[in-house]
Amino acid sequence: MSEWQIKPLAGALGAEVIGADLRAPDEAEMDRVKELLLAHKVLFFPGQAVSAEQHVALGERFGRIEDHPNLRNPFTDHPGIFELAATHGGVADEWHTDITFEDHPSVMSILHMVKCPEVGGDTMWTNLEQAYAELSPPMQDLCENLTALHDALPHNRPDKMSIHPVVRLHPETGAKALYVNEHFTRRLVEMNATESEALLSYLTNWVKNPRFTVRYRWSEGTVAMWDNRCTQHFVLNDFQGERIIQRVTIMGDEVSAAKSSDYEPYVRPGPLSATSRHDRQLALFLKTQRGQGEDAA
Ligand SMILES: [Fe+2]
Repeated sequence: MSEWQIKPLAGALGAEVIGADLRAPDEAEMDRVKELLLAHKVLFFPGQAVSAEQHVALGERFGRIEDHPNLRNPFTDHPGIFELAATHGGVADEWHTDITFEDHPSVMSILHMVKCPEVGGDTMWTNLEQAYAELSPPMQDLCENLTALHDALPHNRPDKMSIHPVVRLHPETGAKALYVNEHFTRRLVEMNATESEALLSYLTNWVKNPRFTVRYRWSEGTVAMWDNRCTQHFVLNDFQGERIIQRVTIMGDEVSAAKSSDYEPYVRPGPLSATSRHDRQLALFLKTQRGQGEDAA
C-alpha cells in the first residue's frame, strides 16, 4: 500500500486523505478506508476522478447500493448513480441525515464532485455523537427516553413516515448519537405537541453548533464519503453557476435505540377539539402501524 497522508480538517470530524487511489483499491486499502471512516466520519480524497463504473464498484465494496432504475441523470445513465446538477438553487440547504423517513435509512454515501463553482457551494457536516455527548446528563436521560416521527414532507410525501429513537447506537462502534434533524424530523412521539415543538427545535439547533462541524471547500475530482449514521450535512446555497455531483448510496442502516422508551406515545386524550389537529399526523401513523401489526399476527 502506498503511503497515505491523513489530514484532520476540524476538531469534531472530517479528514482529507492524500495519496490514495480509489479506482481499484485492494482489500488492505479498503480496510484502511473503513477504519478511517469510522474514526473521522467524513473523508475527502482530492484528485480521484473516478469513472462512473469505478464509483459504483467502490460503493459495492461497502454493501448494497441504492438502485435508481427510473432516474434520468443529466450526464450518466448508470442505474447505481444519482446525479444532481444544480445551477442557482436546488441544493440541500437544510441540515439533515439522508432519508431518515425510511425505516432503514442509508448507511453512507460516496460523492464525486464532477463540476463545482469557483466559489461557494461548500458542504458542512456535523458530528452527532459529539452533539449527544455534550448535552447535560439530565437532557441525555430525557432524550434517551424519547422517539421521534420523521417524514418525507420535503420530498412532498408527508405520508412516508418512520419512527426512530432520539438517541441511537452506531451499529459498529456502539457510540450514541443524537438522531433528530430539522429537515425530516417532525414530532417527539412521547411528548405533547407544544413540548415537542420546543425541545425538537432546541435539539435540531444544538447540532448546528459550529464546534461540532467541519466545512469543506470542493475542487473537481474530489471523492467524499460520509457515515450517515452519526452525521448530518448541509450544502451552502451561495453559488452561481454549475455544481454537478454524482452520488452512490449504500443502503440498509439498522437504527437501534440506546434504550427503549418507558413512555407511551402521546396523543391528546378526550374528544376531538381544535388542538387535536397537532396530533393528527402522529395518530394516523400509530393507527397504520397498529393495523400492520394486526395484519402480521
Ligand atoms: Fe443529503
